[in-house]
Amino acid sequence: MDLFTKTLFLCLALALANGAPMHPQDSAANGGEDHAAVPDRCKGIEFDAITLDEKGTTLFFKGAHLWKGYHGPAQRSNETFEELDDTHHIGHVDAAIRMHNKESPDIHDRNYFFQDDKVFRYYNYSLEDGYPKEIQADFPGIPTHLDAAVECPSGECTTDSVLFFKGNDVHVYDIATKTVKTKTWSHLPSCTSVLRWQEHYYCFHGHNFTRFNPVSGEVTGTYPKDARNYFMRCPNFGHGGGYKILKCSEIKLDAITADDSGKTYMFAGRIYMRLDTHRDGLHAFPIIRGWKEVTNGVDAVFSYTDKIYLIKGDQVYIYKSTAQHTLVEGYPKTLKEELGIEGHVDAAFLCPNGHTVHIIQGQRMLDVDLTATPRVVTRDVSVPVSDIDAGLCGSDGVKVFKGSQYYRYESATTLAASRIAPEPLNITSAMLGCQD
Ligand SMILES: *[C@@H]1O[C@H](CO)[C@@H](O)[C@H](O)[C@H]1NC(C)=O
Ligand SMILES: *[C@@H]1O[C@H](CO)[C@@H](O)[C@H](O)[C@H]1NC(C)=O
Ligand SMILES: *[C@@H]1O[C@H](CO)[C@@H](O)[C@H](O)[C@H]1NC(C)=O
Ligand SMILES: *[C@@H]1O[C@H](CO)[C@@H](O)[C@H](O)[C@H]1NC(C)=O
Repeated sequence: MDLFTKTLFLCLALALANGAPMHPQDSAANGGEDHAAVPDRCKGIEFDAITLDEKGTTLFFKGAHLWKGYHGPAQRSNETFEELDDTHHIGHVDAAIRMHNKESPDIHDRNYFFQDDKVFRYYNYSLEDGYPKEIQADFPGIPTHLDAAVECPSGECTTDSVLFFKGNDVHVYDIATKTVKTKTWSHLPSCTSVLRWQEHYYCFHGHNFTRFNPVSGEVTGTYPKDARNYFMRCPNFGHGGGYKILKCSEIKLDAITADDSGKTYMFAGRIYMRLDTHRDGLHAFPIIRGWKEVTNGVDAVFSYTDKIYLIKGDQVYIYKSTAQHTLVEGYPKTLKEELGIEGHVDAAFLCPNGHTVHIIQGQRMLDVDLTATPRVVTRDVSVPVSDIDAGLCGSDGVKVFKGSQYYRYESATTLAASRIAPEPLNITSAMLGCQD
C-alpha cells in the first residue's frame, strides 16, 4: 500500500469507528454471524442507563449491551438480564436505579430497570415475581419513556426519593407518600443516565458527566468532565497507575485509620481510599482532595474524638472529621509541639474510646496520653516487628501492617509485652479491597 492509500484507509476506519461503531475484531470474534455492533466505551459513547447492583458493581447500559464494572468489554444485556430482551425485543434500557429504602427490606437494594412504559425489578440478578409491570403501577405519576433515574436517600434528599429525568424535567418521587413534585433544571445538560455514587450525583450526557446537587440541581466545580477519565479504565485516559486496584500481594500502606463514625481510610503514596463504602465500589482519590494542605503523602494517621491526625515528616495536621475536612486553626504544628516526640513516625493508632496514641518508630512503640498537656511519652517499649508501615486498633484487636502482610495482637499491651512476632497473615481483598 502506498502512503496515500494507507492514510485513506486509516481515515475510513476512524470514521467508521466514530460514527457507527463497527468493530472489525468484534464481528470476527462473533464468527460473522452476529452483525450487531459491540460498542466500545473507550471510544466515547453515551450510556442509556448506569446504576450499581446490590453488591456495588457498576452496570453501564448501551443499546443491547452492558458492562459490569470499570473495565472489560461489553456483553449482551440479555445474557445477564434475560427478560429485559425477551418480552420486548427492544434491546435497550431507558433508566436504572438501585432502590434505597431501609424502611422496606423487600424493596431495598433492588435494581429497577425502566424500559418504555415498563419497569423490571431484579434482585441478585433474578427478575422478581410480578415483573415487568407498568411504571405507573409502582411509581404513580411518573412518565413513560424516561431518560434517566436515580435513587436519593433521605439525608441527601429531604425524604427517601427517586429522581426521574425526562428532558429538563425532574420528577421527584417520594417513596413513602407516593407523591411527585416536578422541577425543571434547564441549566443541567439533558441527562441520558444518572448515577448516585459515594453520596454524589452524576448526570451523564454524551461521553461527559456533570455532578449536581440532588435537591437544588446546582452544579459546583468544573464540569462537564470526560467520563472516560473517571468511570472506566481506558488507555490514555484516567489518572495513571496510582489509581488501579492493586494486587493484595503488592500492597504497601503508609497509614490506615478508622474513626468513631465507622469511616475507614487507607493511605498509600499520594492516594487514599475509603474502605467502609466498598458497596459503592472501591475508588482511590488523591489525598489532597480530602485534606488539601497535605500535598506530599502521609507517614502515619490516627483518629481521636472527632478529629483525624495526619503526620508527615515532623508536621502534624489535625482536621475535623466533618464531610468537608477542615484543618484546625494553627495547624500544622511540629511533632514535638503536638505530641512531644521527635523523629520519623512509621505508624500510629489509637484504640476505640482510648486516649492514648501508640506511635511506632522503628522497633519502638511510644505511648502518648492525649489528655495531658503538655503531651508526654508515658511508655516506651520495643516491639518484635521491624519496618511497620501502618497500624489499626479496633474491636478485634491491633493489626500492624508490613508490606502485604499484617500481624494481629489482642491489644496494644500484648504487642508491647511480646518478644517474638506471631505468624504474619496476608492482607485479603475483604480487608482492603485489593485483588487476590
Ligand atoms: C440475546 O440476544 C441475541 C440477539 O437477539 C440472541 O441471539 C441471543 O440468543 C440472546 N441470548 C439470550 C441468553 O437470550
Ligand atoms: C443469588 O443467586 C445465586 C445464583 O443464582 C445463588 O447461588 C445465591 O444463593 C443467590 N443469593 C441470594 C442471597 O439469594
Ligand atoms: C465534553 O466536555 C468537554 C469539556 O470537558 C467539552 O469541551 C466537550 O465539548 C464536551 N463534549 C460533549 C459531547 O458534551
Ligand atoms: C500468604 O501468601 C503467600 C503467597 O503470596 C502464601 O505462600 C502463604 O502461604 C500465605 N500465607 C498465609 C498465612 O495464608
